Amino acid sequence: ANGTSTPAGHQALDVLMEGLRRLEYRGYDSAGVAVVAEGGIAMRKKAGKLANLTAELAQRPLPDSMTGIGHTRWATHGGPTDKNAHPHVVDGGKLAVIHNGIIENYAPLKAELLQQDHTFVSDTDTEVAAVLLGDIYRSLPDDGSADGARLTRAMQLAAQRLEGAFTLLAAHADHPGTVVASRRNSPLVVGLGDGENFLGSDVSGFIDYTRRAVELGQDQVVTITADTVAITDFFGAPAEGKEYLVDWDAAAAEKDGFPSFMEKEIHDQPEAVAATLLGRSDLEGKLTLDEMRIDADVLKTINKIIVLACGTSAYAGQVAKYAIEHWCRIPTEVELSHEFRYRDPIVDDKTLIVSLSQSGETMDTLMAVRYAREQGAKTIAICNTNGSTIPRESDAVLYTHAGPEIAVASTKAFLAQITAAYLLGLYLAQLRGNLFQGQIKDVLADLAKVPAKIAQVLANDGQIKELARSMADTRSVLFLGRHVGFPVAMEGALKLKELAYIHAEGFAAGELKHGPIALIEEGQPVIVVVPSPRGRDSLHAKVVSNIQEVRARGAKTIVIAEEGDESVRAHAEHVFYIPETTALLAPLLTTVPLQIFACELATAKGYDVDQPRNLAKSVTVE
Ligand code: G6P
Repeated sequence: ANGTSTPAGHQALDVLMEGLRRLEYRGYDSAGVAVVAEGGIAMRKKAGKLANLTAELAQRPLPDSMTGIGHTRWATHGGPTDKNAHPHVVDGGKLAVIHNGIIENYAPLKAELLQQDHTFVSDTDTEVAAVLLGDIYRSLPDDGSADGARLTRAMQLAAQRLEGAFTLLAAHADHPGTVVASRRNSPLVVGLGDGENFLGSDVSGFIDYTRRAVELGQDQVVTITADTVAITDFFGAPAEGKEYLVDWDAAAAEKDGFPSFMEKEIHDQPEAVAATLLGRSDLEGKLTLDEMRIDADVLKTINKIIVLACGTSAYAGQVAKYAIEHWCRIPTEVELSHEFRYRDPIVDDKTLIVSLSQSGETMDTLMAVRYAREQGAKTIAICNTNGSTIPRESDAVLYTHAGPEIAVASTKAFLAQITAAYLLGLYLAQLRGNLFQGQIKDVLADLAKVPAKIAQVLANDGQIKELARSMADTRSVLFLGRHVGFPVAMEGALKLKELAYIHAEGFAAGELKHGPIALIEEGQPVIVVVPSPRGRDSLHAKVVSNIQEVRARGAKTIVIAEEGDESVRAHAEHVFYIPETTALLAPLLTTVPLQIFACELATAKGYDVDQPRNLAKSVTVE
């Protein structure tokens, strides 16, 4: 989201388009701009990349203006179409609104507004916020002032009624020169120019014009004009923002100041998990997956689940298998999509196919899903790209809300996929009565704590980065894990192969003695993902024995263990601690140091971590 009020000689449209270009990494499935001009709002919006909007503007130019708002979208509610693109213009063409985030209570609000005879032209939660804002605006007395006080007041009142995560920006034809915004949970920064002011989802939206930025607090409303910035809380009480100077340049802007998209996306992970959890359970722990379009009765008769995916997504599927079988007691297989349909698999109308795909376009997975549907199976897509092919061709969809993933090697989508697959597992367990509501509530409560714990791992990345840099000459690394730690070990190995071109393999720690231990020689690095010592069985002790076995044969042991687990120290050259969580949720934390390790090691070798050789982000050929 980007907004500007700029009589300092800059045309609003130029500022907006440049800002959107820089913000395109945040979303690129549709884009739009609106300017206040000639007593009304003039708006253009288009599905697809920003280039489509640029082409549209060339054909149908906008009038000159000093005030406007613009948006690049990454669809959450409502597919990526022209009409779902932002801005949404309501109130007879006088009010334009853009939104970033997810409005959790949009359904009851929409029902309420429909009853008052409001109409909607899109499928978005944003339009609900826009109509609500317009409704409130009109209910307020016209104070005759052009400074936008009425719009500010309406925004405060509207924000009070919204739940979830949102940054909303609004411009009104009756207040040319003013942009009003509100924020809760979603990002918004103010840019202070000279005779012009800006708003952006991050500073890259206005970095070409100013480095002076103001950080807003939670639940605040801000009104900007060319020479004023006024901040309040949702109740109108004045508030202060924190001014700071942006210390990085325009080139780093799209990456939010990080040297690579990969690093940025690793740091996006607390938000990716939190957004994926958002709005899917009520306080009692009752889950409602609104994207579920398969009859509950049909889901109750399912006797087998097959998870289909490739690459990192397949490892997310392997993690999910442990949880789904544990909670739902439904036999669950995980299969690489490209293997699945060539082996005469047993699939019928009692089979539930769960596909995992970040892009939603992986041809191998698409073909496997199609094949399964032909055999009568029900299909659910867990996907990060709204409106992509695999969800379109599936019976039901559960979107991960990780935001766009640009780096080829997947990081935040992986954690979001595990989170979504767990929600699906809990949903099925709830539906089929495998778990008590209280048990589901407990898991949801534990999940809700995960984002802050990931942030903790990220905040303590110094030690793992240092180790990674010291290992730049390593030729081979082995990864060991057990239970959910096994797919995490394989994912850790995959990251190292993909990014640092180092031979790496992940093994089930118990399998070691059946062969792989022959690989161990003096100095061989072995990274071990250790389960929590608080587990109810002896898994922890067994993995600690495995560490000793490889160490006795000369391995250099690097251990990822739970905070407080002192038992590993004696057997490890390096220990990295992650915060406590339950056994099933541990992958959401143990994966993170392995991502950082691979990324830092590859960076130390001078490789491009965002675009590793020979790989593509989305493989659309079989
Ligand atoms: C490619 C990417 C991997 C990704 C895999 C599956 O190989 O390089 O990072 O894990 O595709 O992609 P999907 O979009 O289906 O999750």
